[in-house]
Amino acid sequence: ARRVLTPPDLAGERILVTAGPTREEVDPVRYVSNHSSGKMGYAIARAAWRRGAEVVLVSGPTCLPDPWGIGVVRVESAMEMRDAVMAELPASTVVVKAAAVADYRPTTRSAAKIKKRTDSLSLDLEKNPDILAEVGRMKGDRVVVGFAAETGELLENARIKLTEKNVDLMVANDVSLEGAGFNVETNIAKLLFRDGTVEELSLMTKGAMADLILDRVAALRQKQSR
Ligand code: CTP
Ligand code: CA
Repeated sequence: ARRVLTPPDLAGERILVTAGPTREEVDPVRYVSNHSSGKMGYAIARAAWRRGAEVVLVSGPTCLPDPWGIGVVRVESAMEMRDAVMAELPASTVVVKAAAVADYRPTTRSAAKIKKRTDSLSLDLEKNPDILAEVGRMKGDRVVVGFAAETGELLENARIKLTEKNVDLMVANDVSLEGAGFNVETNIAKLLFRDGTVEELSLMTKGAMADLILDRVAALRQKQSR
């Protein structure tokens, strides 16, 4: 309903958003994951829809309801998220990777529940594919936005990720700050651009930050089409 009150400045765009954590199964009852709630990605998906975009949301397991008007592809593991993203990528003009993809998965998944027979247990993990880096390699004329979660040397680490993953805009979060990061309604971030510009944002709701990120995406898209 609010869509009619919003200037449709993203009309004509097809925005692929990923959100939430991924779950990497250890056995039928256990998994490896992280604290992502999905709130930032869902806020971006909703805001993009309100601004007139066609939106596809690839979501890991979250407690959040499917946003109205948006096609949601539910996935569990990083491998499933990768497949869903690659399937949706060709038709997308903008990609926003807000998901907290698990970096590693158990090397083998036990078909039977692991019993607590030993006093200690080690898990063998292997690296998951970097979905954002893969999107970056296939970027074409898309605008690609990444998120960097750090607990120190925020700008240095986020700058390296921006370059290595070939993204246009990196949203850098210090997840150790209060009011930022996992499972809260607000966020504090710095926006890093390819030209070296850094925009320091104050504490704001994830909804407000979603619109601000999309303002920058719209500007980047316009710059491209000129
Ligand atoms: N990402 C991804 N696929 C992965 C890991 C991360 O697409 N397997 C994406 C995230 O969605 C995010 C960005 O890469 O947009 C940065 O994620 P982050 O965890 O901050 O960085 P990593 O490259 O995984 O490095 P590290 O966790 O070691 O800091
Ligand atoms: Ca990571």
